[in-house]
Amino acid sequence: MSEPVVYINGEYLPQSQAKVSVLDRGFLFGDGVYEVIPVFSGKPLRLNKHLERLQRSMNRVLLKNPLTQEQWQEIFQTLLDSNPGGDRSIYLQVTRGAAPVRDLSISVGVEPTVFVMVNDIKPVGFARLENGIEAVTVDDFRWKACDIKSISLIANVMIRLRANELNVMDAVMVRDGLVTEGTASNIFLVHQGIISTPPKSDCLLPGITRDLVIELVRANGFKLEERDINRDELETADEIWLTSSTREIAPIVKLDDHVIGDGVAGEYWKKIIAIYQTYKQELRNG
Ligand code: PDD
Repeated sequence: MSEPVVYINGEYLPQSQAKVSVLDRGFLFGDGVYEVIPVFSGKPLRLNKHLERLQRSMNRVLLKNPLTQEQWQEIFQTLLDSNPGGDRSIYLQVTRGAAPVRDLSISVGVEPTVFVMVNDIKPVGFARLENGIEAVTVDDFRWKACDIKSISLIANVMIRLRANELNVMDAVMVRDGLVTEGTASNIFLVHQGIISTPPKSDCLLPGITRDLVIELVRANGFKLEERDINRDELETADEIWLTSSTREIAPIVKLDDHVIGDGVAGEYWKKIIAIYQTYKQELRNG
């Protein structure tokens, strides 16, 4: 297998040759933001929404976007062309660059570091998806700026580790008694025919998949509420799903000691995943 080609600060290089300074603020402080954009049959899903969220993250951390929308798109296309494959995800990150000395204060005139790569999205068979995943609830001890897609993910790493130590795939995070999100995904709950998801706030990332699922659910006549979800509601939920660009819509079938629904993906999930697949197929054909 040939080595992947990546983009780093204006150059396209084999991955092993792409280097950043040890003084890069991304490396020293996690001072940067990122995006993950899924690409199906060469077509990025909701590219503009991802670029808008990138801009929003940058505005929140006072980092100037070093590239125009057209320049970003040109890089994505070049990388997709030079790394042929099936369904992919584009990973990009922008850090505040390498200052001459390690200092929390921001020096003027330092160019941001831009890194972009593409990764395969491994197709997950319907049968495996339908089996669902197990998860645990973990206290959400992250900061109050979870709406920024920050590369500082140490809290998410620790919370995921906690889940993995308990031999489950993921964690559902709970802050002050309210459900926030998964470690790298948003959360939906179904109870008595009503689909709910927590409202956007500084306690969760405004997921592009979340917005798409909300749109598709409503367009197909299902009832959906964006509202606070209490931790206790997880125990009586008929279905719980995690959504993200790479995981799409994943049903949770066991949470802590509770079996969710019948312990397999539920009826609503089956309907919504079919609608989601149709949406993806239209994107592929479009
Ligand atoms: N993560 N919440 C968090 C904390 C996330 O990291 C993600 C995505 C989401 C879902 O966002 P979207 O639907 O736009 O993918 C919610 C990406 C996939 C990652 O870090 O790899």
